Amino acid sequence: MVSNPLAPSWLTVPADANELPARVWPATARRDDDGVVAIGGVRLTDLAAEFGTPLYVIDEADVRARASRTLAAFAAAARAAGTTATVYYAGKAFLSTEVARWVAEAGLNIDTCSAGELAVALAAGVDAARLGLHGNNKSLAEIDRAVAVGLGTIVIDSEQEIARVADAAARHGRRQRVRLRVNSGVHAHTHEFLATAREDQKFGIPLGDVERLVAEIRGHESLEFVGLHCHIGSQIFGVGGFGESASRLLEVHARLLAGGPVPELNLGGGFGIAYTVADDPTDIEVLAEHIVGTVAAQCAARGIPVPHLAFEPGRSIVGGAGVSLYELGTTKPVEVSLDDETAATRLYASVDGGMSDNARYALYQAAYSVRLASRASAAEPVLVRIAGKHCESGDIVVDADYLPGDVAPGDLLAVPATGAYCWSLSSRYNYLPRPAVVAVRDGAARVIVRGETEEDLLSHDTGVTP
Ligand code: LLP
Repeated sequence: MVSNPLAPSWLTVPADANELPARVWPATARRDDDGVVAIGGVRLTDLAAEFGTPLYVIDEADVRARASRTLAAFAAAARAAGTTATVYYAGKAFLSTEVARWVAEAGLNIDTCSAGELAVALAAGVDAARLGLHGNNKSLAEIDRAVAVGLGTIVIDSEQEIARVADAAARHGRRQRVRLRVNSGVHAHTHEFLATAREDQKFGIPLGDVERLVAEIRGHESLEFVGLHCHIGSQIFGVGGFGESASRLLEVHARLLAGGPVPELNLGGGFGIAYTVADDPTDIEVLAEHIVGTVAAQCAARGIPVPHLAFEPGRSIVGGAGVSLYELGTTKPVEVSLDDETAATRLYASVDGGMSDNARYALYQAAYSVRLASRASAAEPVLVRIAGKHCESGDIVVDADYLPGDVAPGDLLAVPATGAYCWSLSSRYNYLPRPAVVAVRDGAARVIVRGETEEDLLSHDTGVTP
């Protein structure tokens, strides 16, 4: 079949529009003999019947496996470099008490960036010493709470925050471990990275200010400086940006050793995942070896010890383990004029969710893929755009993919790789209730985050009489 001229250049017509490419789908995703997709041994048709749609489905075994694999990769690379490594799961990608427990059981620490995320991690029973707190504008209350519960590390993000954390720690009679977030001037996005002397953004402090501010931190009895922190971006495929950023940090790290110990270095997260078959992320083992190897080589060249290393992946732990399940409601073949005065048809397939449960196309023009989940079909593939039900033309979940041409109202559609930054970015736009999150494992399904009801939607409206 020839490709539709409306399709983006990276999208090819699949040889089999029923296939579930392993790179994009959760590890346990399969198509049963009757064509129904199952994840974690649970058929998506059964999930839709029991919990309704839209629904977020998360493959528990896959999250646990990705967490363990990530920790093992960094631990092995660190061991080879004569040091140790800690992996923090960046909770902003998707945090619930269940997920917090899964990653903690896999040996990961958890990075939070608000009092709310902190509350979830604590409610999960994760030891506060294994938690970190980020944020470019932490409130005094957030800092106070973090110090009071005995948080492992607070990442200081501005000059003003030094005194704020020091005061809170002194008040609670604690010596608070802190890192300093540095802006390395390296900014990476997918395949590209940009390196500038100064970056125009709100996070961190410029490299040139580090020595002065670390001296200030060291001057506070109530603070223990553990090292520098840097996060260069998100959904990054290459290794170059991480290496460049690490090199820049180590130059300053080495100078800081003259004034006292610098036991750690935190290089952040940002490891990319495959949203479509066109994405080819670097394996975590290769990334770990490259980043840790760069650090080790830089340390050797400077004659300094290799620090304990820390990393903060979010998306690469949960993104690929999640799938969004929708019911198809309306289809519309739309004829579109092309520049050469011919026309092509795009099938608009509207589902029962949209930008409220997946804001990533609306926010970032993020690409996703889609598959028919309730049956397989041998029909010739057609180009589809999966739209939501919101009152906005930009309400798109999957901009372009091919589905079997007999796709029809009532079919279940599944969008893979929605485990990260979908539930966590969800809204109640147009008063659509947020979908539930269901974990599947070994043939069993359970709700880990309850979906919202109409009652929930009305519950904050003070004009509603009970
Ligand atoms: N550490 C820090 C300090 C961060 O700011 C972030 C992400 C991470 C770690 C985790 O990055 P990850 O490994 O998940 O890429 N909403 C956007 C992503 C925003 C990322 C913000 N910071 C999206 O949906 O693509």
